Amino acid sequence: TRIEKAGHKHYMSKEIFEQPTVISEALNYYMSADGASLILPEPGIDFTKYDRIVMVACGTAFYACFTAKYWFEQIAKVPVEVDIASEFRYREAPISPRTLAIYVSQSGETADTLAALRYTAGKAETIITVTNSSESSMARESDMSLPILAGVEVGVASTKAFSCQLTVLLMLALKAAQDRGVLSEDEIKTQLSALRSLPGLLNLALDQSSAISDVSALLAESSDVLFLGRGAMYPLALEGALKLKEISYIHAEGYASGELKHGPIALVDQNTPIIVLAPRDKLFEKTVSNMQEVMARGGKVLLISDEQGLKEAGDGVWQTIQMPTVPDALAPILYAVPAQLLAYHTAVAKGTDVDQPRNLAKSVTVE
Ligand code: G6P
Repeated sequence: TRIEKAGHKHYMSKEIFEQPTVISEALNYYMSADGASLILPEPGIDFTKYDRIVMVACGTAFYACFTAKYWFEQIAKVPVEVDIASEFRYREAPISPRTLAIYVSQSGETADTLAALRYTAGKAETIITVTNSSESSMARESDMSLPILAGVEVGVASTKAFSCQLTVLLMLALKAAQDRGVLSEDEIKTQLSALRSLPGLLNLALDQSSAISDVSALLAESSDVLFLGRGAMYPLALEGALKLKEISYIHAEGYASGELKHGPIALVDQNTPIIVLAPRDKLFEKTVSNMQEVMARGGKVLLISDEQGLKEAGDGVWQTIQMPTVPDALAPILYAVPAQLLAYHTAVAKGTDVDQPRNLAKSVTVE
């Protein structure tokens, strides 16, 4: 069946705006009707069987893994190693027996990720694929495949598949916390009801689209952009930079806020916008001080934060985008929306081919 753009100028915009709907579907699939417990497909997963998790993917799916590392470690206290598939497949990583290997792939056919999966076959205790294609090679070769339920994604630059991957991985981290006795039943219920609020929050983030479009007209003038984030917002800074370079062809780099002073601060001048992804969380003050370092050197900061964060950031910020206040664990999923919209509107302002960017393929099935 032909997928229509449903009134949008591009598939990418349609797919960005579909996120509240597809994420609701993923939540319904993995949660009981009363919203009180998680349900995983057969044969299920028992996280007490593993001492560590290895997560491997390419591109945007890799950044979903990198974000999930923060969740598995902070929420479930399981050590996680993440790697890109093209490195992992050849680096001869020792895999101890009590390892859970998780592969994330929208297509389930990416050559490097499939090869990485095959490397762990017979070594890891269990192999799981988190994918948008239940019939794919990776799904077939795994012990278990977890659908992300994003629906067909046409835009080459992944958007709704990313947020659905994140949603499924967050639910897995909660399951791990439950199995390992790190969170009580009541705490799990609280987390699950927070997850239920996600589609509504995403709609509020999408309401900022026209404000983001105004800022993007300014970004379109730049030739270099830096993205900064701390904690689980660091992988999102990497994803924001990837999105922008993929479709607008503007050179963009993502950095951990605390790493700024170890190199990238040398790039700061009036022509390099610095996009800071920073909800008002317990690391916020540290990020504000990194922001001030940038502003003291003439850098133009675009701060994406919530009401409280924007208030506390003080004077001197170049541009702001306000997000709704969000429970900590959900922030990377919510802040994916402004990152995607910035890339989208900047590309539209530049007139590039948003859905079919040059030199890129939707699915890379050869090495
Ligand atoms: C290509 C696409 C990206 C995608 C990556 C991994 O590079 O352009 O959008 O993130 O492959 O694809 P996968 O299907 O494994 O998620």
